[in-house]
Amino acid sequence: MLSAIDKVRIAVLASGGGTNLQALFDAEDNGILKSGSIELVISDKPDAYALKRAEKRGVKSVLIERKAFPSAAEFEAEIINTLKANDIELIILAGFMRILSPEFTRTFENRIINVHPSLIPSFCGKGYYGLKVHEAALDYGVKITGATVHFVNEIPDGGKIIKQKAVAVLEDDTPESLQKRVMQQAEWIILPEAAEEVSLNIINTRNDFLRKGN
Ligand code: GAR
Repeated sequence: MLSAIDKVRIAVLASGGGTNLQALFDAEDNGILKSGSIELVISDKPDAYALKRAEKRGVKSVLIERKAFPSAAEFEAEIINTLKANDIELIILAGFMRILSPEFTRTFENRIINVHPSLIPSFCGKGYYGLKVHEAALDYGVKITGATVHFVNEIPDGGKIIKQKAVAVLEDDTPESLQKRVMQQAEWIILPEAAEEVSLNIINTRNDFLRKGN
């Protein structure tokens, strides 16, 4: 078992209810997430319940509001500084409702993952977030939807896919009922699994580096 000091230091960025954040906390408790440790939660919304969840857990939480900064670049710079000051090695976007700039994504290449509530490349990219994704899926009439965890690059929802899970659409689904089922049957399962997979890879890369005598 890894000691706390060897685990990958994870930050979760969340704007809303934080049920995916909770799934990550639960995964630490039930041993699914064992190679990483959630050390920091950042939110851009003062009323985000995700902040409360962090507080209850005793995890450091920081509010960084866009309106506190004159430009998007300065807002992002504050997030980057906070991540660096806390020695964060992996960033998880769990319902973070902002598109990060290419400068940001390049700063943490292959170190940012995101959960999206559809089977990418369907219903993704700019404008597809939260309930809107499920409204679009129902309007289109798809019979299967799901969730995707992917690396974040400069293309919104365009980075390499890590995990996906399909969920059936039911005849009488509303956007709300579909959102709930996609969370329960897909997001809360594949996000912790992906967090573990990526954390383990980061640890293995560290060990390779040490083995090569650096
Ligand atoms: C989740 O369904 C997540 O996939 C989605 O927002 C919800 C956040 O819920 N994210 C996006 O749409 C990003 N494009 P939560 O705050 O309860 O985890």
